[in-house]
Amino acid sequence: MANTKSIHGEWSSRFAYILAATGSAVGLGNIWKFPYITGENGGGAFVLVYLGCVVAIGIPIMMAETLMGRRGRQSPINTLGTLATEAGANKNWHYLGWMGVIAGILILSYYSVIAGWAIAYVFKAIFGGFSSDSVVIKQVFDDLIANPKQLVFWHTVFMVATMSVVMRGVKGGLEKAVQFLMPALLALLVLLVGYAMTTGDAYFQGLSFLFSPDFSEIDSDAVLTAMGHAFFTLGLGMGAIMVYGSYLPSNVSITRTSMYIAGADTIVALLAGIAIFPLVFANGLEPGSGPGLIFQTLPIAFGNMTGGWLFGVLFFVLLVFAALTSSISLVEPVVAWMVENKGFSRVKASVISGFVIWLLGVCVALSFNIWSEFKIFDKTIFNFLDDLTAKVMLPIGGFCIAVFAGWIMQQKHVREELDLPDAQFEIWRFLACYVAPGSVFIVFLHVLGVF
Ligand code: PHE
Repeated sequence: MANTKSIHGEWSSRFAYILAATGSAVGLGNIWKFPYITGENGGGAFVLVYLGCVVAIGIPIMMAETLMGRRGRQSPINTLGTLATEAGANKNWHYLGWMGVIAGILILSYYSVIAGWAIAYVFKAIFGGFSSDSVVIKQVFDDLIANPKQLVFWHTVFMVATMSVVMRGVKGGLEKAVQFLMPALLALLVLLVGYAMTTGDAYFQGLSFLFSPDFSEIDSDAVLTAMGHAFFTLGLGMGAIMVYGSYLPSNVSITRTSMYIAGADTIVALLAGIAIFPLVFANGLEPGSGPGLIFQTLPIAFGNMTGGWLFGVLFFVLLVFAALTSSISLVEPVVAWMVENKGFSRVKASVISGFVIWLLGVCVALSFNIWSEFKIFDKTIFNFLDDLTAKVMLPIGGFCIAVFAGWIMQQKHVREELDLPDAQFEIWRFLACYVAPGSVFIVFLHVLGVF
């Protein structure tokens, strides 16, 4: 075993790790992004491809990433360096850690802006901004994103919150917060699903949109979107789970915890979809309305139901917390690296990285309004960063992680970390060596038009 403990400490228990890693996985990706990209990509078939990716690519890579973290016990950059040396491989593998750090920074820059929308909605809910009129609700959303000052303000609030948690170390308060947060979020989603059931026909229309696959609706870009989302929603391919794994006590089963985390993440996403699409159909909205989808649908439900005021406030508060437990995992790799390699205190490392991300986030906020005409490869800054990270960097990162754990590391070390019976270990190995990297490779070739 390389190191037995990380210098940054260790989770207090297996449960604490599951909570933190589930906190990293469950976030805006499940509640905001999954429904809107499902809507944009035609529904059922897209959902099926996404679920397939979670099982065949996501879970094996999550196991690979976690075991690498636990064996390396440092920030992803140094973990990769150490593990490469241990395996007698090229030191350049640590650049994979760098790519992850950069992906985390880029993701958080737009993640924080969207989380800012959610904070703004907490206040809209409090001050009675929700109504049962879908036209009014759409206007509320359009007004918000057209307003650069508000977007920058709420983005700033979210970044300050993220960095103040990270400063204190991700283990203390976080473990406790997630413990009540996840069940509460689940309960509210179930409540929203209950409301969706009252929409009659629209409920079944919503279910059929989500669950009856029509493969003519998807092309290779949709498949790439679904695969990229599997990485995004599980928090894979950029070192977040690796750094969390580095704080994982040695006796915890990586396989079992990975399954729990992926399972919880998938349930939350599907519930969000089931809650949202009936509202879309009941109110004559477009499933492909884009990033505003949940903000244009859920407030209608809260505007209509008894006690909707309270539930609306609660829901958006929980969404902000879910985003927070993800955002801290997005910066943890770079903060851990600064502490290890630059000798910075956690506070200094948090302030510096937080400032850089905040600045980038301001550009993202402006890309929804005054800079909306500014395009990079024909995309707004927001779309560009979202595509670059979710469709390119995370899949490449995940591909390399699978290859590293499957082909580069000594298999006796991998075996030791996974601690599985032979047959199960072989299944993992087959998925990590062939299925996961092979699928990413084929999807890329397809998108690039090679065949
Ligand atoms: N998984 C998080 C979500 O679904 C986002 C995330 C991506 C977190 C990458 C960590 C790493 O919202």
